[in-house]
Amino acid sequence: MKKYTKIKDIENISEIIQEAIQLKQNPYQFEKLGEHKTLVMLFFNSSLRTRLSTEKAAKNLGMQVMVLHVNDAWNLEFEDGTIMNLNTSEHVKDAAQVISQYADIIALRAFPTLKDKEKDASEFVLNSFVKYASVPVINMESATAHPLQALTDAITIEELKTSSKPKVVLSWAPHPKALPHAVANSFVNMMSELKVDFSITHPKGYELNPEITKEIPVNHNQEEALKNADFVYVKNWSNYSNYGEIVSQDSSWMMTKEKLGTAKFMHCLPVRRNVVVEDAVLDSENSVVIHEANNRTYAAQIVLKKIVENL
Ligand code: CP
Repeated sequence: MKKYTKIKDIENISEIIQEAIQLKQNPYQFEKLGEHKTLVMLFFNSSLRTRLSTEKAAKNLGMQVMVLHVNDAWNLEFEDGTIMNLNTSEHVKDAAQVISQYADIIALRAFPTLKDKEKDASEFVLNSFVKYASVPVINMESATAHPLQALTDAITIEELKTSSKPKVVLSWAPHPKALPHAVANSFVNMMSELKVDFSITHPKGYELNPEITKEIPVNHNQEEALKNADFVYVKNWSNYSNYGEIVSQDSSWMMTKEKLGTAKFMHCLPVRRNVVVEDAVLDSENSVVIHEANNRTYAAQIVLKKIVENL
């Protein structure tokens, strides 16, 4: 693998899922592979799971890890040809090349503006690093995608499924803040690659990017959509057509034990209890969110392994 900025960078998803599950049985079996290799993780935004699981994954492979919270460094310029006489101090063209002197792999988190749809769709932060860095880049959640989370979710479903083609439903949930589409987009992309009976349920008007959802069935009746589900993936996203707006906070879309039934509850975390999902779900045996969070390590580790093998 040359980089991991999107799910399509994986050549054979079923194989990589199986390899990640094997890696989980013995996480240190390749502890010499990453010797004298350095992962630099750049965070433009907050993180708990991605920050810790990716570092753990790299260390399991014997890599060294450096973390930079980019807001603590120089303010970066992304426009080409700008006269930099205002607030930006360093051009990404220089920064990415410099960071590449210290890194064998760069991993990057940069959320969307949720104000400028076109700019977010261009993935200007991620793509600037892909363009100017001389080492492979991993997406730790960008404006429109969270492929490490999606690989984690695929591993989790593979481990916990009890039928060859489980029913998986992505269900929108209310949230007080406008959230990105990245997790939902990548989950949809990943489910499209797997042998699952997949559908989406959300209130009218909360359609995701149609170029991503394509022909996937959407049901605006949540209860009906959840019937006989094996896995329910709950996630809020802000409006896509009225870009970045919150047009509904309808609390009746919160996931409850009654609505979930016997399905397994999935969420990428962090989650707002009793807004997105009630305590009774999160604290029940149906919730697999901690299992999922543990799998973040093995998703990151298999991706790092594939890239290190190709350095
Ligand atoms: N799920 C996820 O990406 O968690 P963090 O934002 O804490 O990294």
